[in-house]
Order: sequence, then C-alpha cells, then structure tokens
Amino acid sequence: MSLLVKNIGTLVGIDESGRLRVEGKDMAEITTLENAWLLTDGERIKDYGTMDKCPSVEDCEVLDAKGGWLFPSFCDSHTHIVYAGSREQEFLDKINGLSYEEIAKRGGGILNSADRLHETSEDELYRQAMERVDEIIRMGTGLVEIKSGYGLTLEDELKILRVIRRIKQSSPIEVRATFLGAHAVGRAYKGRQADYVDHVCNDMIPAVAKEGLAEFVDVFCDKGFFTVEETAKIMETGAKYGLRAKIHANELAVSGGVEVGVEHKALSVDHLESMGDEQIEALRGTDTMPTMLPGCAFFLGITYPPARKMIDAGLAVALASDFNPGTAPSGNMRFVVSLASIKMKMTPAEAINAATMNSAAAMGESKNFGSITRGKVANFFITKSLPSLAYLPYAHQTPIIKCVVLKGKRVE
Ligand code: NIG
Ligand code: FE
Repeated sequence: MSLLVKNIGTLVGIDESGRLRVEGKDMAEITTLENAWLLTDGERIKDYGTMDKCPSVEDCEVLDAKGGWLFPSFCDSHTHIVYAGSREQEFLDKINGLSYEEIAKRGGGILNSADRLHETSEDELYRQAMERVDEIIRMGTGLVEIKSGYGLTLEDELKILRVIRRIKQSSPIEVRATFLGAHAVGRAYKGRQADYVDHVCNDMIPAVAKEGLAEFVDVFCDKGFFTVEETAKIMETGAKYGLRAKIHANELAVSGGVEVGVEHKALSVDHLESMGDEQIEALRGTDTMPTMLPGCAFFLGITYPPARKMIDAGLAVALASDFNPGTAPSGNMRFVVSLASIKMKMTPAEAINAATMNSAAAMGESKNFGSITRGKVANFFITKSLPSLAYLPYAHQTPIIKCVVLKGKRVE
C-alpha cells in the first residue's frame, strides 16, 4: 500500500546525486524543499514535490504532516544493544574517581556484562534488547548495526548473534550484525590472550559464518585490549569468511587501529577520541569511514574526537550512538547530533549528514538508506513544525518527533 504524506513544512535531506557519502565541505550542505509532499510505493520512496502539484493517488493512505518537518531516519552504525541488565555500580565507581580502564582491570566492564549475559536466557536477552530497539525506533533510528561482544565464549557469542537475527526478523527496523568476539579476553583465557585470538579466528569466526549470523567483524584495538597485530589477524580471518571489518580504534589511546583498519580496507574505524594529524592523513583518500561516538566521550568525560579537523581535511565523517551498558547507555541519535554540534562544533547540517548518509555508508548501506531519494527505502520521521534546521540539535531534549515511518509503514 502506498503512503502519501501531505503538508510537510520542510522536507530535509534530499539527495538525487547518486553519491554514497558526503565529504568535507559538502557536509555543510543539506538539500531541503518547503511545503512538500512525499509518496511511497510500498517499502520505497516513489516521489516528492511541492504542495502546489500534490498528486491525487487512489488507494493510498494519506498522512497529514500539518506543517511538521520530515527527516530521513537516523542510521546508527555502531551499537551494542544486546546486553543483560545494566552497570550503574560502575557508573558510581566512575563518579568516585575510577577510570574506565581501572574498572575493566578490576574485572568490571565488559567482563561484568559477559558474566551477566551468560546467566541470561536467549528469550530474556531478546526481550531486553527489544525494549531498547523499540526505544531507538521512537527516537528516529531506522537502520542499526548491532554487535556481539558480551559473550566471549563461542556459545554465548552465538547466543547474542541469534538474538540479533531474531530482532532482524521481528522488528521493522533494518539491522546489520557484527561479530565482536575480540571485545575483551574471555575469562577462561585469562593471561592467554594469544590463545583467545586463535580461538576467535579458528573456532568463532567459522561458526558465525557457517550460520550466516554476521555481516561484519570488529575488534577492540586499543591500549589494554587487542594489539594491532591481533587486530590484523582477526580482520584477515574475517575477510576469508566474507566479513568486512569495522574496528574500535583510538578510544583510550592512539592505538594504531586507524592505520591497520585502513590497510585492511575496513568499512569504518570508530571512536577516534585519540587522534593525531597522522591518523587524519591516513584516512584521506580511503573508503574507510571515520565514525565518531560522542555519547561515549560525554559519558566517560574524555576528549571528543577532532571532528572539525577531519571535516576541514576533506574527510567524510559519520556519527553513531555506541549504545552499550558501559560507556554510552543511550541510543538517542538526536542527542548524538546535539553533542556533535555543541561539543565538536559540527554545524547542524554536518551532524545530520553524518548521522544519516554517512552512517549508512559506514554499514555499506547508503545506496538504500540515509537520505530522501527516489528509490531508497521509505524510512523517515515527522516532527512538529520547527523554526529552523538548527532547532533539532538546539532543543536537544524537546520531544519533537510526532510520527515514524519505516519501510513505508507508520510504526509510531
Ligand atoms: O564501544 N570500547 C569498547 N566497547 C564499548 C564499551 C563496552 C563496555 O564497557 O561495555 C565501547 O565503548
Ligand atoms: Fe563500541
């Protein structure tokens, strides 16, 4: 069934250029159309135009936007939504002065989540994850990447990836799955990191690939976690099994993760709180999407990635939430966009491009998602009437979203 949205105050994020990412200076531009309509054809966007030429379509659902703005859904290219429970105790430890690394060293952090996940049934894990998925849908996200990484045993990693598959099958949101066995060394391998990496490469990746449970492979390449050599080995094994790399790099230190990611043609390198000029240079002219997760810097109180330097150097950059229990317990992409503007001095247009087209590109999905384009998937949200584009990051807590459409169907 088609859907005709009428009386759109401003249609935002139009792109008929055919490009798959928005780079450098171009990030400051976002095409809009005032007083518009938009028509879907089942799952896809069929056409749009101005209200003076609004088509009359038979047999079609009509939605009156009443002057509200229509935005392409956010694409969130980095989350860890499938986890058990929450970790407020560590939040309190942080308030009392411990750093993220100190908490991890004491057996907290990722291992704490792995212990809880081990005790949680697949059904319960699915139930908890779906609450988070429904929450991000209401906040405007239409395409999301979800990582494993709180299992750290073959059995528990597969459990997470099966939950992600269930989410894919049951939710209107579009999902991509990433295997992150190398998120931390599993407890059974304590002190034997090299053996754990072998286990990831020899047992886990083949098992994940056999069940077709993931599109991507990720490694936490950082100080105190996995080395550049280990990261390269895991990426190479992943590539043999058809898994493209998306790497956690440079969150805690300049880790070499950016360079090794670029060298292995990673789809994205994510975090980038610790970035020097050499790392920016290493990204120039490559297809690897630098992805920033300001919700993590906000929550940990660490330095924000140098977004301005990267954009001014001509790079395309993406934004994602990092939704996880330890460093970013929120999947609110509007807040991510606000943080990008407030803390990293990205203009509203730059931040919205980074959270839509470029974050779709960070999942290899910008042909189908991330802008208002004829033929792309009809994923969008409609707000109340807004005074300007800047109002979206500015009024960062005001509930402005009135309606959400995913794959051409109204879901909220
Ligand atoms: O992206 N950096 C590694 N992984 C997560 C944090 C995981 C956790 O603390 O549970 C992140 O920040
Ligand atoms: Fe992460």
